[in-house]
Amino acid sequence: MRIPRVIAVANQKGGTGKTLTAFELAMAFIARGLRVRLVDADPQSAALTAWLVACFPEGRRWTLTDVLMERCSLADATYPTAYVGLFMVVSAPDLGEVENSIEKPPGVESLLQYHLASEKDFDVTIIDSGPSLALPTVAALVAAHEVVVPVQAASGLDVKGAASLKTTIKKIQSRLNPELRIAATVLTDFEKSTLARTIGARMVKAFPGSLVVPARQSVRVGEAQLAMKPLRVFAPGTTTTLDYDLAAAVLLGQRVPPQRTAT
Ligand SMILES: Nc1ncnc2c1ncn2[C@@H]1O[C@H](COP(=O)(O)OP(=O)(O)OP(=O)(O)O)[C@@H](O)[C@H]1O
Ligand SMILES: [Mg+2]
Repeated sequence: MRIPRVIAVANQKGGTGKTLTAFELAMAFIARGLRVRLVDADPQSAALTAWLVACFPEGRRWTLTDVLMERCSLADATYPTAYVGLFMVVSAPDLGEVENSIEKPPGVESLLQYHLASEKDFDVTIIDSGPSLALPTVAALVAAHEVVVPVQAASGLDVKGAASLKTTIKKIQSRLNPELRIAATVLTDFEKSTLARTIGARMVKAFPGSLVVPARQSVRVGEAQLAMKPLRVFAPGTTTTLDYDLAAAVLLGQRVPPQRTAT
């Protein structure tokens, strides 16, 4: 296993399960004893920053916007959370304004990559991106070693979102980050059906060599969000938690029984 490792969770389509996947993967990694940083690269206020509360020291609260505007380093903007081993970089609504700011630093899309390359404090950094291919998502893809693409198991449209993502990834690979690879598709909100199988097969075809991992549907997911807790803490034994454990194992390159990765 190559550590440190940077994983971008991306799909430009909205509501595919990116934030849930980023959060639960992070929780699965810390359960394995890894030191994990979650970066919220989505300016939407209802995203990860609202769900996972960071512990800020008094008088200091840097966000990802400050990192991209070169007001602080990524390390400065990384805060502990209530969960041992889990740290986070929070988002802010002004993150979406960086792209059009006249003061944005040159090469801003490579800034996260720059910070991550020179800093080895975390085993895994997971970047949750928003439903667009705007600057924060591009910065995440430039910084990442691997991409995880969540698609709703019952949505044909999510597969189309993933196709546009593929074009962007190819451009980033050829211009800014040749190491980038698509590691896995997570079929979120999964229920066994012919459609889910077809979508899984389409994703394998779209991203050859990547693995497809189902994350089963559970009402506990919404309940955990309401309670502002990770699913793993709110409902430890749910099938969805077990599925994210499997996804974490797959990403770490650990051996898993073959039938668990098939859809
Ligand atoms: N396994 C699951 N079981 C039940 N509901 C799920 C599951 N996975 C995802 N969902 C639901 O899907 C919805 C979208 O999830 P999430 O917010 O993670 O998507 P997103 O891709 O981050 O959205 P956005 O594009 O807006 O950032 C949520 O309401 C979540 O509760
Ligand atoms: Mg999200």
